[in-house]
Amino acid sequence: MANSYRDTFTGPHLLGIAGLNRLEVDSLLDRTADFMVLNRQRNKHSDVLGGQTLINLFFEPSTRTQGSFELAGKRLGADVINMAIKSSSVAKGETLIDTAVTLNAMHPDLLVVRHSASGAAELLSQKVDCAVINAGDGSHEHPTQALLDAFTLRAHFGDLAGLRIAICGDVVHSRVARSDITLLTLLGAEVRLCAPPTLLPGSAREWGVQVFYNMGEALDGCDVVMVLRLQRERMTSACVPSTREYFRYYGLDRAKLSAAKESALVMHPGPMNRGVEIDSEIADDPNISLITEQVESGVALRMAVLAALAEGRT
Ligand code: CP
Repeated sequence: MANSYRDTFTGPHLLGIAGLNRLEVDSLLDRTADFMVLNRQRNKHSDVLGGQTLINLFFEPSTRTQGSFELAGKRLGADVINMAIKSSSVAKGETLIDTAVTLNAMHPDLLVVRHSASGAAELLSQKVDCAVINAGDGSHEHPTQALLDAFTLRAHFGDLAGLRIAICGDVVHSRVARSDITLLTLLGAEVRLCAPPTLLPGSAREWGVQVFYNMGEALDGCDVVMVLRLQRERMTSACVPSTREYFRYYGLDRAKLSAAKESALVMHPGPMNRGVEIDSEIADDPNISLITEQVESGVALRMAVLAALAEGRT
């Protein structure tokens, strides 16, 4: 495996895409390519994290992110603990910081955190001695999702410069959208947002993107359509009249996708609400859907992040 990544991304933490530069991003994506090769072999083990401890601390549900960080840590030889929050002392009222300080006393090397509060990962990084990785904090950032998305696109298009990418759906609640916008624009893509006004933050026009309310206009000439989940669990009031009506105007189906380039590819970070933001016919079409490739990239990308942070601590 290549070993020429020094002086690029070395941490000390991965809290967001904001703050990363192009060289750091490229070094992580290059490392990911190497781990993609390893992950397709029968023996997927490396000892990059031999003797080190990784703790997954997820205060919100997760399948892809938690599962892939667990696999990533194990494939790199780390001891991995998944804290079961519901049966931990959090259920007795222990605070986020007390939980982190308690875990820190057990000398972990890497702490992966998902929390409903924006800024939670950064706060923990100030309280612990190990590397902290933000696995999603409120509506703020989900950096490893954006990096795996960029890697998946790089695998298909080579260079992201000049690609026209529409991010559609529940932008206001989406940490994925914020991280993706920052990263895709850093890599030279033209990013468009499309959602009903109730699902777009007022500040969206200041993000260096074009804003649309109509899918036909937004998808015109697009190379990629990235669909976001309608995050009903974060809505404090009804942001859409009904999921049926939402699908009619914003759900990605063949008719709406026809506004994009004929060669356009479709992404979704998951989990999907089928028939709400995306039609199964699109999600399950292997000729246009990158959704399972995103999941595969996620394991390798998280291996790359863990390896880089561990290297930065030596
Ligand atoms: N994309 C994503 O973060 O999925 P999970 O919630 O399953 O981790």
